[in-house]
Amino acid sequence: MSDTRNASAAAHETGKRQARIKTFARRESRITPAQQKALAELLGLYQIPWTNKKIDISEVFPKAKKFAVEIGFGDGSALLEQAMRNTETAYLGIEVFRPGVGKCLIQLQRNNITNVRISTADARDVISEQISSASVHEFIMLFPDPWPKMRHRKRRLVNPEFIALCVDRLVPGGTITIVTDSVDYAQQVIDVLEDNDGLESLAHHLASSERRAPTRYEKKAIAAGHSVFEMQYAKSVHQPVLNC
Ligand SMILES: C[S@@+](CC[C@H](N)C(=O)[O-])C[C@H]1O[C@@H](n2cnc3c(N)ncnc32)[C@H](O)[C@@H]1O
Repeated sequence: MSDTRNASAAAHETGKRQARIKTFARRESRITPAQQKALAELLGLYQIPWTNKKIDISEVFPKAKKFAVEIGFGDGSALLEQAMRNTETAYLGIEVFRPGVGKCLIQLQRNNITNVRISTADARDVISEQISSASVHEFIMLFPDPWPKMRHRKRRLVNPEFIALCVDRLVPGGTITIVTDSVDYAQQVIDVLEDNDGLESLAHHLASSERRAPTRYEKKAIAAGHSVFEMQYAKSVHQPVLNC
């Protein structure tokens, strides 16, 4: 490659990185000594480290019948509860907020949970680079950051490109569940998911505490008197697999 083309490719890459929009507010914030210790001692046991190679989930969990991915698990309360309920499903929890990851690791060890792995990388990179097409049975997003200010809305994780990526990674019939207490975000979720030709709507309803225990953000929403909306879509059974 000539020097000019090298320089132009480098500038393009730098431009792409600079243009990357953050979908989360904090990675660190206050962290307790116990959470720090858990990150130092336990992360290596539970982590799927960042690489740009696809994960072979059957190698990580040879006995698992299904593969579920929770995006932005916070402190991991829902992840742990689901993993304990569905022991034949392998769970990958993705979270960049290190105090939350620390808290989740402590509980994973305390409850001797073996069907969960953790990634601390950006979910968009993990899903794009590490997860294969047609391999995920369920994507779960509980209270994605709502970014209520109009000028911050571009930071919302649910957008057409991200959902197209998730749809590609789902097995036919696999589901995407998104829960939020932001009326405006719920409408955006419906607009984006309805617009994706590969998805069929299963349900939009007020979230029920019978299906799962409320997460930390859900408890805050309920205490503030907000309604909590749950939207579920499934990947259509007959469609071509796209590469993205
Ligand atoms: C509002 S919190 C909700 C946490 C939890 N699901 C709950 O309901 O309590 C949203 C979480 O998503 C995480 N998050 C946002 N964007 C992310 C990304 N691109 N990759 C991984 N995690 C992300 C944030 O760090 C934050 O912890």
